[in-house]
Amino acid sequence: MKILIIGNMGYVGPGTVKQLRATYPDAELVGFDIGYFANHLTNTSILPEVMLDRQIIGDVRNFPAEIMEGVDAVVYLAAISNDPMGAVFEEVTMDVNFRAAVRIAGLARSAGVRSFVYASSCSIYGAADDYPKTENDTLAPLTAYAKSKVAAEIGLGKLASKDFTVTCLRFATACGMSNRLRLDLVLNDFVAGAIISKEINILSDGTPWRPLINVLDMALALEWGVGRQASNGGEFLVVNTGTSSWNYQVKDLANAASNIVPGCQVTVRQDAPPDKRSYRVNFDLYKKLAPNHQPQRDLSITIKELYESINNMKLADANFRDSNFMRLKILDSLRKQGYLTQDLSWAWSESASASSKITLTREIA
Ligand SMILES: NC(=O)c1ccc[n+]([C@@H]2O[C@H](COP(=O)([O-])OP(=O)(O)OC[C@H]3O[C@@H](n4cnc5c(N)ncnc54)[C@H](O)[C@@H]3O)[C@@H](O)[C@H]2O)c1
Repeated sequence: MKILIIGNMGYVGPGTVKQLRATYPDAELVGFDIGYFANHLTNTSILPEVMLDRQIIGDVRNFPAEIMEGVDAVVYLAAISNDPMGAVFEEVTMDVNFRAAVRIAGLARSAGVRSFVYASSCSIYGAADDYPKTENDTLAPLTAYAKSKVAAEIGLGKLASKDFTVTCLRFATACGMSNRLRLDLVLNDFVAGAIISKEINILSDGTPWRPLINVLDMALALEWGVGRQASNGGEFLVVNTGTSSWNYQVKDLANAASNIVPGCQVTVRQDAPPDKRSYRVNFDLYKKLAPNHQPQRDLSITIKELYESINNMKLADANFRDSNFMRLKILDSLRKQGYLTQDLSWAWSESASASSKITLTREIA
């Protein structure tokens, strides 16, 4: 068994590698990532990538076909991974999240890969809080990020066959501790605010609905996708991934996070424009298809783990929303320092960016 995890050096990747290593101890695990956030490690004494057999540094927009040789399953996590980044880097978002994903899936299919798992998002339901949405409901992607995920699902759907199973996991919003923590995620932001300034500042009026999932339960679902057979859900499957009991309103998340720090205040911007991204999601299909891979962590455990880890990290910067815990800030800073070009290629690789370039590939393990 050889599994290729593309986009493994972000927030979701480290837990996913650990989960795959535990489930497939003898598998050859290969990581592929451009490395934007590689040095932003949290809560770990080892580099998460040492659990892999090989780490390749490369850009999905120039993915060399030969990497696919002998691969049995692909997990595609690479992305410009939220709305604020998607707004600034719209074209790159489409290239990485959609075009490269579909091209790489095509290469995978040609190379005889059996299973392709894609990290999609429930945010494609957009403004949809009237009732919990199922996979058959109309999509209303509001942002470049959400649109890229819809386009990818459509493109990938055309490639699925009886020998090439494609699984698009429409994940709820992630939360929880990772070896590459992000604080640009709603619950993580709230817990950090509670610890650092005893204040949770909700940027909307607090009413939007968000389904959540612990990042380690995402890893569990990705592992399920790798092993999924077409007999369980079909050659092409799109499935909401999370649990129905984790549909929360943002203000409820803030209140739950505030409870862990005595005296913590929750402030709601009464004058905030309504956040149109509000969706409740029905996760029954995932429950039916993956009874042994259901989310295991609840909200209070997730908050407790975040609290303990962030406390141990001795994070003191009240301005954490302007720090390297925000993915967009890291990209901005890399661009300002001249490391990244406008299109988020590494500066030294720009001249080669039009051609498939194995020269970008370096093995570190
Ligand atoms: N975090 C969430 O709330 C959430 C929710 C739903 C879906 N997802 C999806 O899960 C996946 C992983 O999310 P994450 O939170 O780990 O994001 P992340 O931003 O932390 O990680 C994304 C990874 O992709 C890599 N990458 C970006 N552009 C690349 C390129 N051109 N070539 C190679 N690698 C590239 C980055 O270096 C990074 O390591 C994404 O597809 C995201 O859209 C995340």
